[in-house]
Amino acid sequence: MKNKLDILHSKLNESKLGGGLDRIKKQHEKGKLTAHERIQYLLDDHSFEEIDALVTHRNTDFGMDRQVILGDGVVTGYGNIHGRLVFVFSQDFTVFGGSLSETHAEKICKIMDLAVKNGAPVIGLNDSGGARIQEGVNSLGGYADIFYRNTLASGVVPQISAIMGPCAGGAVYSPAITDFIFMVEHTSYMFVTGPNVVKTVTNETVTSEELGGASAHSTKSGVTHFTASNDVDCLLKIRRLLKYLPQNCEDKVPRIRYELSDELRPALNQMIPAEPNQPYDMRDIIRVIVDDDSFMEVHENYAENIVIGFAHLAGRSIGIVANQPMSLAGVLDVESSKKAARFVRFCDSFNIPLLVLVDVPGFLPGTDQEWHGIITNGAKLLYAFCEATVPRVTLITRKAYGGAYDVMNSKHIGADMNYAWPTAEIAVMGAKGATEIIFRKEIDEAADPDGKLKEKETEYIEKFANPYLAAQRGFIDEVIEPSVTRRKLIKAFSMLEHKTVSNPKKKHGNIPL
Ligand code: HXC
Repeated sequence: MKNKLDILHSKLNESKLGGGLDRIKKQHEKGKLTAHERIQYLLDDHSFEEIDALVTHRNTDFGMDRQVILGDGVVTGYGNIHGRLVFVFSQDFTVFGGSLSETHAEKICKIMDLAVKNGAPVIGLNDSGGARIQEGVNSLGGYADIFYRNTLASGVVPQISAIMGPCAGGAVYSPAITDFIFMVEHTSYMFVTGPNVVKTVTNETVTSEELGGASAHSTKSGVTHFTASNDVDCLLKIRRLLKYLPQNCEDKVPRIRYELSDELRPALNQMIPAEPNQPYDMRDIIRVIVDDDSFMEVHENYAENIVIGFAHLAGRSIGIVANQPMSLAGVLDVESSKKAARFVRFCDSFNIPLLVLVDVPGFLPGTDQEWHGIITNGAKLLYAFCEATVPRVTLITRKAYGGAYDVMNSKHIGADMNYAWPTAEIAVMGAKGATEIIFRKEIDEAADPDGKLKEKETEYIEKFANPYLAAQRGFIDEVIEPSVTRRKLIKAFSMLEHKTVSNPKKKHGNIPL
């Protein structure tokens, strides 16, 4: 980092921003890179082409005509990541606090329009005090112009936002509409209303970091998908994410060269604990199945009972959705359903095949869940899977109970290939609960009710706690030994490479938002 920074410093010394060296130093003192430096780290070397560098604001109020700085607080242009075209804007906090004027917004809109016309991702590096106060409604209108474009570009080109400083007020809604948000720990925050307003309205005392820092949004709200320890880490993570994404909705992700060998993974045979209620880390299974070091988890610390992320499988980019028995026994609840649903829709928008790993005891019961809308929110995930037309492959590792069996990419809702390990249990509910309901009379009347309960439970387990009934009906295509899983999945996704399905013609569906 030091070498690259030294070079950048000397370049900046000579550049048009040279007069602003003090401002640059101030930015560095806060532990932040400047707008130009960030672009240098983000893009392939020497690939950046800046546009609109000479644009200035048109405001003459409040003495602004005496403060004119080229570029007006945002650096925009295009360049390459891994040799592929991307469009980028990078707000410059050293110029009017990166605040958004009418012309600043016009520059961002131009970049977004170019990205859509040319079918390439847009990456926004946000570091701004929000609407340029001196410009009033012109600035608010500028934000709305951006929101409108964010929405029209959604599902057309990938949109990525990095929050690398303040992002407050209505400004947060542009990143919120984009596909992925990155936040830098301790130097960035996002909130609709800041600590002062919070104090006035609710009498809560809270710091910016507590209210809207990277930690709050990665664990509590789920607003951010990724966190980074500093600017460079953030920019490198964005570069990594781009490896899994296509350029636009009509493109496919380029495959990484991969030579097939036997692809057996014997370690998978040992991964399911002998005791059915014992937890295990689904991420261990994912890492063995996919290409080495290729799993990039999304929303790692939020709604941890479901794991989502990208990986490569024999060089092909896939999206993974997996129940996580380590957290809440892997149940589906409000947050995990929302988390997974949005991810499924992203993958489907951008032609990324889906692999779904299932170990789910059902939906989480309780007043909290019902009153927070587990019905509507669970339906989001169901809806997202039902309408997805990308290749969809499911593997049931252990439990697939009740409605959650249906929801987790079952054959019935359009999955293409459904596998189960011999340890799979596919049933309406767990053995104990089921036995107590359907054999209650027999158990109550027995001389030894506990013994009878055990006997009936064993009977139920033998009948239902396996994948073979589902396989007899064709709901499971094959019961496979865990060790051959990777081989099977590679073949399945290869077979599905040219899958074409189209849903009934409509303007758009009405997902239960
Ligand atoms: C104009 C601004 C500005 C703004 C900061 N500056 N925010 N200029 N409009 N919104 C200027 C400051 O005057 C200062 O100029 C320079 O940027 C750096 O700001 P500092 O305050 O010195 O920096 P810092 O101490 O790091 O504080 C950063 C900050 C603070 C917390 C972001 O500047 C701040 O509270 N700004 C106002 C935030 C705000 O209320 N924005 C409007 C939100 S509402 P000099 O010349 O002194 O260097 C909104 C609505 C969007 O954005 C609606 C969309 C629909």
